[in-house]
Amino acid sequence: MTEIRTPRLVLRRWLDDDLVPLSEIHADPVVMRGIGDGRPRSLDQTAEDIEAWEEEWDEEGYGMFAVELLGSGELAGAVGLSLADAPAEVAGQVAISWRLGRVFWGQGYASEAAHATLEFALQDRGLDRVVAVCRTGDSASVNVLDKLGMRPEGTAQHPVLGHDLALYGIDLTQYQE
Ligand SMILES: CC(C)(COP(=O)(O)OP(=O)(O)OC[C@H]1O[C@@H](n2cnc3c(N)ncnc32)[C@H](O)[C@@H]1OP(=O)(O)O)[C@@H](O)C(=O)NCCC(=O)NCCS
Repeated sequence: MTEIRTPRLVLRRWLDDDLVPLSEIHADPVVMRGIGDGRPRSLDQTAEDIEAWEEEWDEEGYGMFAVELLGSGELAGAVGLSLADAPAEVAGQVAISWRLGRVFWGQGYASEAAHATLEFALQDRGLDRVVAVCRTGDSASVNVLDKLGMRPEGTAQHPVLGHDLALYGIDLTQYQE
């Protein structure tokens, strides 16, 4: 069972009790505007997401982590890895992504979880490259990407919504520099 402890967080696989708190995060349009089709996700859709992430863990040995606060045990959100299927520029590559409940923003939790995830991907899991995709102008995500040492690699268009996306990447050799 993959579980990572950072100074303030536990990154772990998903439990049944995570469904309601994650669906509350997924119900927030501000959290969700840069994810998927840009819309909030229902309880049923959240259950499908957790099922898909767990399947990816079983099949690929990586996936989205449930991010739990070490002190309180609260679910702060989801940070982790998934096989990108769009945009075409990154399809088939492993992407890192993050979403935290709004009350958990501005405390360094996303960066802490993302650092641990990148280390898991490139060192423990042995991947040689990780990409990231964010909405152009998503300064909170760009801040996290900069702190991770991920590099801008161009732009693309959202396959459904058409807006601009910024593409980032890091190779194992760049990570080790
Ligand atoms: C993207 C997102 C996860 C970033 O969250 P965040 O809280 O802004 O990011 P961080 O965890 O890195 O916190 C950043 C700020 O926390 C503050 N902070 C407070 N205590 C801190 C600590 N102990 N360590 C580090 N930062 C701390 C700092 O001010 C820091 O800002 P700085 O790097 O400019 O100094 C969040 O905005 C989100 O969930 N957005 C919606 C989902 C989304 O769009 N995801 C993108 C799709 S990939």
